[in-house]
Amino acid sequence: MKTISDYQRMKNDGEKIVMLTAYDYPSARLAQEAGIDVILVGDSLGMVVLGYDSTVPVTMADMLHHSRAARRGAGNTFIITDMPFLTYQISAAQALENAGRLVQEGGCEGVKVEGGEEIATQVRAMVRAGIPVCGHIGLTPQSATSLSGYKVQGRTAEAAKKLLHDALALEEAGAFMIVLECIPAQVAELISKRLSIPTIGIGGGAACDGQVLVFHDTLGLFERFVPKFVKQFETLGVKAKDALALYAGEVRSGAFPDAAHSFSMNEDQLQKIYGDGQP
Ligand code: KIV
Repeated sequence: MKTISDYQRMKNDGEKIVMLTAYDYPSARLAQEAGIDVILVGDSLGMVVLGYDSTVPVTMADMLHHSRAARRGAGNTFIITDMPFLTYQISAAQALENAGRLVQEGGCEGVKVEGGEEIATQVRAMVRAGIPVCGHIGLTPQSATSLSGYKVQGRTAEAAKKLLHDALALEEAGAFMIVLECIPAQVAELISKRLSIPTIGIGGGAACDGQVLVFHDTLGLFERFVPKFVKQFETLGVKAKDALALYAGEVRSGAFPDAAHSFSMNEDQLQKIYGDGQP
């Protein structure tokens, strides 16, 4: 399994870090087999798996359930699990208790929290307890309402400086990695250069030390909305729909199941059931 030192070395050597979300056994297994460097059990599962409109309704129980399932499929891939809304903002003690549960019961190696300087105390407490913490700044979906929606962040000089300030505060608090979501590429580049720890971009341009995408976005399995930063590397949603329609058609026409997908008995066995007449 890669360690946080490996991710640090990758940044130092200019080797890109590939992160992908996964939420269950099959998605984590595919990520692991594809050689993904780090799996994120993101609270985006609220939208792409559970069908909510945002990540806010996601609970600790949801994250524990999905983290455990991803752990079973992830093999030796490092897993970071998102801490849900309001499970770390209240106090350092609350953050520590919930992060501990995600590691102990959810089987992840590290946790991710959204926010900057305002949660540095919580980050410090978790890191002191031995829990690797990944930060997340820029567009932070848990607080999208107070950001007036899913918008690019850090567009003004003042906002860009605040992002840099928050990133430095998280690094200083002991975070081992920071996700930069939906910020101008130049701002992400500046932050990536100023930080010693790796940055992982999602809508943060090419200069970040790594990239993350949501599993369902990457494969074209979530069509409700497709942000500009998403590249669909496949259109599995369309392919899956076509395959399911084919299945339905064959059941209705009687073409499925055919002999190749059925079991049969030999004549002797049949004779024993039927004898000379009705069984
Ligand atoms: O929840 C999530 O999947 C995330 C990524 C988009 C970074 O936070």
